[in-house]
Order: sequence, then structure tokens, then C-alpha cells
Amino acid sequence: MTECNTSTNKILKILETNKLIAAPLAGVTTPPFRKIMRRFFNGLIYTEMVSVEGIKRKMDRTLSYLSVTETDQPLGVQLFGSKPESYTEAISVLKDYLQPEFIDINMGCPVKKVLKSGSGCAMMKDPINSADILRATKKAAGDIPVTIKIRLGMNRSTLNYDEFIKFAYEEGAEAVTLHGRTRADMFSGTVDYDLIADAKSKAKLPIIGNGDVMDVPTYKKMLDTGVDGVMIGRGMMKQPWIFEALNNGQDPADYMSFDRLYELIKELVEFEKIYKGEMFFLEGVKKYIIWFLKGMPGSAALRNGLYSTATEKEMFDMLDEFFDRLKNP
Ligand SMILES: Cc1cc2nc3c(=O)[nH]c(=O)nc-3n(C[C@H](O)[C@H](O)[C@H](O)COP(=O)(O)O)c2cc1C
Repeated sequence: MTECNTSTNKILKILETNKLIAAPLAGVTTPPFRKIMRRFFNGLIYTEMVSVEGIKRKMDRTLSYLSVTETDQPLGVQLFGSKPESYTEAISVLKDYLQPEFIDINMGCPVKKVLKSGSGCAMMKDPINSADILRATKKAAGDIPVTIKIRLGMNRSTLNYDEFIKFAYEEGAEAVTLHGRTRADMFSGTVDYDLIADAKSKAKLPIIGNGDVMDVPTYKKMLDTGVDGVMIGRGMMKQPWIFEALNNGQDPADYMSFDRLYELIKELVEFEKIYKGEMFFLEGVKKYIIWFLKGMPGSAALRNGLYSTATEKEMFDMLDEFFDRLKNP
């Protein structure tokens, strides 16, 4: 039923070669992690969400979220905020720093602090303001295509994803990402494939399905809804190689050899060091290592051990022992 101009739609162009899209993940899809993701993926990657209020005030911390590396293409910058005029101002500042391939508006974050400011999923309570925000963003973005990311609604009795998809089409959005849960669901239960299929069947613009894609069966299930693309979040923070594995039809859980995994960890440590500096990189990098190794024999003990290490050398000594045991059980 897609009625948008399929020959000029830039998301569809990207999806022709790669059905997958990397989700915005606060505190995770930072420049060093995106560099790691690029080892396995040449499709669209979104930044973590960035506050329009922070950008427009040129706050150092917020602007640091806009830093990019040479491999950051194609990139979407995700914005959050509740006032149309703030998007206008923020995008004019943003354009001085970078020219992303896409700008996305976060209308699905369920976190209380974000909702309190009227942003994220709170926007689903106010379709008129949300449409105003999309219009303002489109105008300020100029040639940069705009996407929106929504949930099914605030809760099961106020499902209004179709209303959002309708105004997204009317206001000229490039695509809508739909996470198949409501705000009340948070991350519990399973994603609602039927409602994603319903959204896709009625939509006049590309729909990106999102939620619970972790392996080949769940990827297939999402594709069966008919969506134009599939966005992966938690699956990639634990297994950034998921893109390459799924594109090769393989299960990400046993896709990486021990040697390749070890090299990847070493690489991520170097990237994090450059991004955060010698003094501050160590604690942040441990969470990724623990995610990557979760489920392997001895990983629970490693987790506690790693958090007590104080230096990079201590951390790698422990990892060397861990990998030795894996290779020579
Ligand atoms: C740690 C974490 C951070 C997230 N940060 C964002 C964010 O910045 N912007 C956003 O739109 N969604 C964010 N999300 C939601 C994901 O983008 C995605 O919609 C959700 O996790 C469902 O997809 P999944 O089942 O593949 O993880 C976040 C989720 C997690 C777990």
C-alpha cells in the first residue's frame, strides 16, 4: 500500500541492499561502539537520542553526542524534545556540526524522566503537537530526510499508531519505525507482530518493524509482518555482529570464533580509549565485554572479577585466562 515516491525514498534505497537498521540506544550507540558495528554492517545506524534543548544551548555534553568518526555513514541522528521551535533552533546548530543522512524524532522512549518533559512516548498523547514537531523538523532539515520512531500507543486502550503513521505520511516523513509495544508495556512481554502487520498493511510510507529481533527465527517473524525494514536494538548491544550473522542466515549466538571475539574486544578498548581518554574509558568498556561474553562458561564469575579490576592490564590478564579456559576446557 506504500504510496510514497518509492524511487526517491532514501530509506527504501538503503533497505534495498540491507533490510536491517541499527536502533538508537542511549549510552550504547556512541561513536566507538558505532565503529565496532561498522565491522559487521554497512546499513543505517542511528545515534543515541540527543536533546534538542541541549543542542540549541550548545551544551558541551550534548554536543559531544554529535561527534562522528570517518566510518559513520549512513548515519541518522535521533533527537528528542517537546517543542517545535526547539527542533528548528537545534537543527540549525546541528547542521554546523554534521550533515547526517537522516534525522529521527524520538516519540517512543518510555523512561519517566523523558516523559515528564513531554518528550519521548509522552508525544503519543498529543498527536497535534507531534505533527507540528515533524513539520518544524522537516522545514529546518531541508534536504535531510526525517523519520519518526513510535510505539503502538501509551497503553493497550489508547492504541494510536495509525494516527501517527498517517500524519507522518502527510507531513512528508521518510519512514516510521514502530516498536511493537506500548509505553505501559515498557520492555515486558513479547512484541505484537499482528499490530505491526496491521500498521504496515495500512501505511502509505515505509514501516520499519522493531522489537525482540535476536536471531534468525525472530528476524523471519518480523519480516513476515511485511515491514520494509527491521530495526535491531538489544540484540546488537550484546552481539554487534548480529547484522552480519543474520545477513548470512546464521545464528548470532555461535557466529564469532573465540579469536575473533577477543580481537573485537581489543579493538573496542582502543576505540573507547580514544573517545573517552585514558583516565575514563575502563569502566564503560567493561559493560560491553560482559554483554559480549554473557552465557559462555565462566562468564558469571568473570563479570564480578572484571568489575574489580583497576587497570587495563589487570582486565586483560583476566580475559586472557578466561579465553584460555574456553579454548582448552
Ligand atoms: C539501553 C537502551 C537504550 C535505548 N535508547 C533509546 C534511544 O536513545 N532512543 C530510542 O528511540 N529508543 C531507545 N531504546 C529503545 C530501542 O531503540 C528499541 O526500540 C527497543 O529496545 C526495542 O527493540 P529491541 O527489542 O530490538 O531492543 C533504548 C533501549 C535500550 C535497551
